[in-house]
Amino acid sequence: MVNYKDLGLVNTREMFKRAIAGGYAIPAFNFNTMEQMQAIVMAAVETKSPVIMQVSKGARNYANGTILRNLAKGAVEYAKELGCEHPEIVLHLDHGDSFELCKECIDNGFSSVMIDGSSLPYEENIALAKKVVEYAHQFDVTVEAELGVLAGVEDEVSAAESHYTKPEEVIDFSTRTGCDSLAISIGTSHGAHKFTPEQCTLVNGVLVPPPLAFDILHEIEKKLPGFPIVLHGSSSVPMEEVNTINKYGGHLEAAIGIPEEQLREASKSAVCKINIDSDSRLAMTAAIRKHLAEHPGDFDPRQYLKPARENMKKMYIHKIVNVLGSDGKLAQC
Ligand code: G3H
Ligand code: 13P
Ligand code: ZN
Repeated sequence: MVNYKDLGLVNTREMFKRAIAGGYAIPAFNFNTMEQMQAIVMAAVETKSPVIMQVSKGARNYANGTILRNLAKGAVEYAKELGCEHPEIVLHLDHGDSFELCKECIDNGFSSVMIDGSSLPYEENIALAKKVVEYAHQFDVTVEAELGVLAGVEDEVSAAESHYTKPEEVIDFSTRTGCDSLAISIGTSHGAHKFTPEQCTLVNGVLVPPPLAFDILHEIEKKLPGFPIVLHGSSSVPMEEVNTINKYGGHLEAAIGIPEEQLREASKSAVCKINIDSDSRLAMTAAIRKHLAEHPGDFDPRQYLKPARENMKKMYIHKIVNVLGSDGKLAQC
């Protein structure tokens, strides 16, 4: 058994309380590689922000769970080395799809887990989340559960269509599961193609997607005052990165994300965790494509991974400072 506290990690409880009271959101960035981890830590330290580093089942398959856990341990030490004496870093399992996977992560140093039973019938979702909560809380590990279905691929969990969270279910669900935070579906979705062009409106030559269902979010907030709400699928899919990818040989058509203005608005509400993965993938790929196109003779990975890391760091800082507002929010520096 590896306890997260021995790795210098924290759970989400206190940071979520502060985020709701302060009207900002904590960034939850997915990571699969050392370069992503370094960029996340550099960005969090420079902006003095708490941060959630999250690992999907796919990331564990790609990079190995033990390696990722040790990268997170390294992240705490690296943050201190960069001058942050009291970093607040959460190691979170993203879209856990079984009790066994959540238990394995809890037993191996994760400070927070998500159990995603959103595709299950309501009562089964409750039973599964409750079982994970009962186990996790013995070790002071926090648990995110999900109600409502997001469209897109969520690792092993995938859905063609989204189903908004039903506000009338949230009190029963959160009370009976005992979960610490609730992921809801209000119109976000995973990946870089969140909307079809037909779903968007053309404004000054730019495709503007339909707004998120803020009415549902506000109804949920009324039912669960002060309860931490999570938004998945919150990449904005910056056109600048998409254009760079396409300019240097990529082929990403009709990539559309969530406008940052809407995420800024959500951050001021009970939404206190915002998940971003695709924007990091785009930032990394754009920088690598550009570098290799401009330096066709380079073959040392450090030559193209360094600008990739810089570009991701820039994106993470932008999200923290200009979208989520979690800069300067460490309890102690
Ligand atoms: O929600 C999905 C995340 O973006 C993780 O994606 O399962 O491909 O690692 P992944
Ligand atoms: P994006 O694909 O919008 O980055 O969403 C990531 C996510 O929700 C991870 O759980
Ligand atoms: Zn997600």
